[in-house]
Amino acid sequence: MPTMVIDGREVTAPPGANLIEAAKLAGIEIPHFCYHPALKVVASCRMCFVEVTQEVRGKPTTRLTTACNTPAADGMVVRTDTQPVKKAQNDILEFLLINHPVDCPVCDEAGECKLQDYAFAYGTSSSRFAEHRRFRHAKKLGSGIRLYTNRCILCDRCVRFLRDFVGTGELSVTDMGNGNEISVFPGRPIDNVLAGNLPEICPVGALIAEDFLFKARVWNLRPVDSVCPGCSRGCATFLDVKDNEVQRTRARENQAINGYFICDDGRYLYHVIRHETRLEHPAVREGDQLRESNWDHALDVVVSRLAESPERVVILLSPFLTEEEARAGAHLSRVLHGSVPGHVPNALREAPVSFPGGFAIDGDKAPNSAFVQNMAPVPLQDLVVTKDTVILFFNSSLRIGSVSPRDAEILRRAGFVAVIDVLWNDITALADVVLPGRMWAEKSGTFSNSAGMAQSFGAAVLPPPLTRDESDVIMDLTQRITTRISTGGGAIP
Ligand code: SF4
Ligand code: SF4
Ligand code: FES
Repeated sequence: MPTMVIDGREVTAPPGANLIEAAKLAGIEIPHFCYHPALKVVASCRMCFVEVTQEVRGKPTTRLTTACNTPAADGMVVRTDTQPVKKAQNDILEFLLINHPVDCPVCDEAGECKLQDYAFAYGTSSSRFAEHRRFRHAKKLGSGIRLYTNRCILCDRCVRFLRDFVGTGELSVTDMGNGNEISVFPGRPIDNVLAGNLPEICPVGALIAEDFLFKARVWNLRPVDSVCPGCSRGCATFLDVKDNEVQRTRARENQAINGYFICDDGRYLYHVIRHETRLEHPAVREGDQLRESNWDHALDVVVSRLAESPERVVILLSPFLTEEEARAGAHLSRVLHGSVPGHVPNALREAPVSFPGGFAIDGDKAPNSAFVQNMAPVPLQDLVVTKDTVILFFNSSLRIGSVSPRDAEILRRAGFVAVIDVLWNDITALADVVLPGRMWAEKSGTFSNSAGMAQSFGAAVLPPPLTRDESDVIMDLTQRITTRISTGGGAIP
């Protein structure tokens, strides 16, 4: 492993690391635009100049060089703050800004823009450019992505991402010289499920997601570490929150799972939190109708049905539950009749998708299938369900259709069904008692992905007031049932 000195600090870098990565290990940032660790190096922006002293033919030689395409080597002495380096950075920034509109006050990237940050840190406050600035209209590129062409610094990250990482190659640099701009081919908009990563890859405010357009200033956002519940891949994410609303989802680096990226399904899944079909109050069936109720009454109805004949109770867990909830559900099952719960497998499955850059989307569109199946090994279809069966189903599925029609039919056979859920769906429609639960963004918990890697997440927003945390509901039910046992008020053994 090469050992070198960067700005007076000794650093040992992993083999193959470039000087940007080596400096990062020493806590030193070398400014860069075109370099991205997941993409091929092109060394086109020239922002990452450093001064390197190295022995060449037995003599120490000092030169200015770009850090992104210079491999870390033993014995190098690197300076990131000399006069020639500062002059180079200054000149590059002045050049990049000659046509830039400097419209930071209305740009969604302001506050997390490398051009803005570097202009403050390494640029000057004036420009010698006295000509007319080039003007280009913003354009829609497809998949909800807009290009604010005037802000583009032609770093080529977006082109390499779509061409090499995603493999779809919708973007290219068209025209020549001063006419260069990023474009799609005529009639071929961006159309891939990783397109939402483009605004994060773009180091400036050129590529903007319509989903986040003019929604919030980034310095007003509170990022919360989260885990995507969109499939069993379990990508690490940030939920950016303002005014108790998730404003956007961003990828959170996790090299063991998702690298630097997430898919668009997971990115835009946060809209389900405030979906119009959101369950916001308990409901109890009266004849053909589910009528709005309160928690005390709804839980009393459930407990009295569970207590009537505990041996006929079937507790069911869904793969949308967290580990903590699944454990609590298994405990309740043991308290009731001394056996393990069953599970309702997620019916939403697609072929897994993988991309040339190494990112993969799991075919199972639920976040915790492996763990839940471990806690509740028997699938619903292997359980005996008759008109005497009482079912307590902890579903909390974020996706309509996650229960297969065959499993829904089995549930319909039961004499009584209570479900805790987050959306009105075909299962709540057949239930006798509906209890409103919480979504992943409203609670803390742990999901284990299909490779068995557990990741914890925290609550990002406050839930609707009449909803309750699933673990809390399960503990409440367990408590009520235990009380009934101890007071002899039920037939529980
Ligand atoms: S749109 Fe962004 S990522 Fe693409 S070339 Fe321009 S600045 Fe770079
Ligand atoms: S791959 Fe799966 S876990 Fe990752 S962002 Fe997409 S839906 Fe979410
Ligand atoms: S980051 Fe090195 S040249 Fe662009």
